[in-house]
Amino acid sequence: MAEKNKRDGFGSKIGIIAAAAGSAVGLGNIYRFPCVAGENGGGAFLIVYLVIVLTLGIPMMIGEFILGRRAQKNPVGTFKALAPSAKGWSLIGYMGVLCAFLIIAFYSTVAGWTIESVYKSVINYYHGKDLATIEQGFNDSINMTVRPLLWQAVFIFISAFVIAKGISKGIEKYSKILMPILIIILLILCVKSILLPGAYEGLKFFFKPDFSKISRQVITSALGQVFFSMSLGMGALITYGSYISKKDNLVTTSLMVGLSDTFVAILAGVIIFPAAFSFGIRPEAGPSLAFNTLPMLFNQMNGGYFFCLIFFILLVIAAWTSALSLLEVIVSYLTEELNLSRKKATIYSSVGAFIISILAAMSLHDGSSLTIFGFTIFDSLDKITSMVFMTLGGLFTVLFLGWKIKKQDFEDEFTNSGTVNIRLKKIFYYIIKFIAPAAIAVIMASQFLM
Ligand code: PHE
Repeated sequence: MAEKNKRDGFGSKIGIIAAAAGSAVGLGNIYRFPCVAGENGGGAFLIVYLVIVLTLGIPMMIGEFILGRRAQKNPVGTFKALAPSAKGWSLIGYMGVLCAFLIIAFYSTVAGWTIESVYKSVINYYHGKDLATIEQGFNDSINMTVRPLLWQAVFIFISAFVIAKGISKGIEKYSKILMPILIIILLILCVKSILLPGAYEGLKFFFKPDFSKISRQVITSALGQVFFSMSLGMGALITYGSYISKKDNLVTTSLMVGLSDTFVAILAGVIIFPAAFSFGIRPEAGPSLAFNTLPMLFNQMNGGYFFCLIFFILLVIAAWTSALSLLEVIVSYLTEELNLSRKKATIYSSVGAFIISILAAMSLHDGSSLTIFGFTIFDSLDKITSMVFMTLGGLFTVLFLGWKIKKQDFEDEFTNSGTVNIRLKKIFYYIIKFIAPAAIAVIMASQFLM
C-alpha cells in the first residue's frame, strides 16, 4: 500500500529547484554533452539541441511534474492511479524503473573515473605532465581491474546512504549550496579556456553551425542527449514531482531547472572545445575531452592544483545528486508498490546496479569481449537508455498526458487549481497533445529508415 500520509516532501521552493537541478546537472552536462556534441559536428548539434530543449524538453519537464504531483506516487503507481481502467500504461513506469537501473550501471563507471581524477588531483599527479602521458594514464586506469570497481562501489554506496535516509533530509541538504559553487568554478574555467592560444578554433567549432551537418543522426543524438541531460522520460521527474508542494509553480520551476541545466552544458562546451583545440585533442575524442582536456587546462592555471581538486570534487557531487534521483525512482517503486522498507529497497537497488556496473566497467578493458552487437556493454547501456528507453518513455508519457488523463487533473496541476495564470497555456497543451508526440515519433522512426 502506498504510504500516503508518511510521504516525505521538499521543504521549500528552493529545495525542489535545487534537487531537480541536482538531478539534471551531472555527468550528462560535463562529460556526455561535449562527447556527443563533438561527435556530431559541434555548432550544428548545439542549434538542434537548443531547439529541442525549448520546444520539447521544458514542456516535457512540466508534464512529468504534473503527473507526479497529481498522483503523489512513484512512476509505476502514477500511471496506475491516473488511468485506473487502463493498467497497460503502467508499463511506462516499469520501463522507467528498469531504465534508472541501467543508467546507474554505466553512470557510476563514469563517476568512478571522476573519483579517480579527484585522487590524481590530490596526489598532484597531473602536475607538469604532457597530454600523451595524461591520456595514457587515463587509459591505464580504465584498464585496471580492481580500482575502477572500487571507485564505482564508493560512488554507489554514498548515493545509497543518502537515499536510505529519505528525501528532504538527504537530497535537499546537499544540493542547495554546492551547485552554485560548481557554476562559479565553471565560469572561471571558461575565461581561462577562451584565453588559450588557438582557442578561437574551438569556439568556432562549438558556436558556428555548419547547417549541412544536420543529419538524422545529429537530431536523434540531440534528442537523446536532451532527455538524458534533463532526466526526462524515465520517471525521475515524476518521482520528484510527487514531492513538490501544491503551491509551487511548475512552469517557473521547470524553466529554471531546464535553463540552468542547458546553461551548464553550454559552459562545459565553452570550456572544453577551446581548450581541446588548443591542446590538439580531437572533438570526437570521447571521454578524453573532459577527463584529459581539463587537467591540461588546470596545468596552465595559477592555483591549478586547487582548482583541479575542487572541480573534480564538485563534479563527483553533481554526479551524486543525479544518482540520487535515479535511485529514488527504483526505491520509491519498491517501497510503495512492493512494500519493502526503505532500507531494504536501497540495498537491493544499489547492489543490483553495482553488479551490472561491473560488467560495464570491464567491457571497456582493451580487447574485452563483453560486447553487444559490436558495442561494449558500457556503450550499449549509454545508447539504449537515452536513445531508446528514455525517448520511448517520453513519447508515451506525453501521449498519456495529452490523451489519457482527465482534463481536470491536467488543468488543476498545471494552474495550481486555477490560482496561477499561465500565459502560453494553449501552446503548452498543443505541444503536449500533438507536437511532442509527433516530433519524438518521427525522430525515432527516422533511425530505422534508410
Ligand atoms: N541528467 C543527469 C545528468 O545529466 C543524468 C540522469 C538521467 C539523472 C536520468 C536522472 C535521470 O547527468
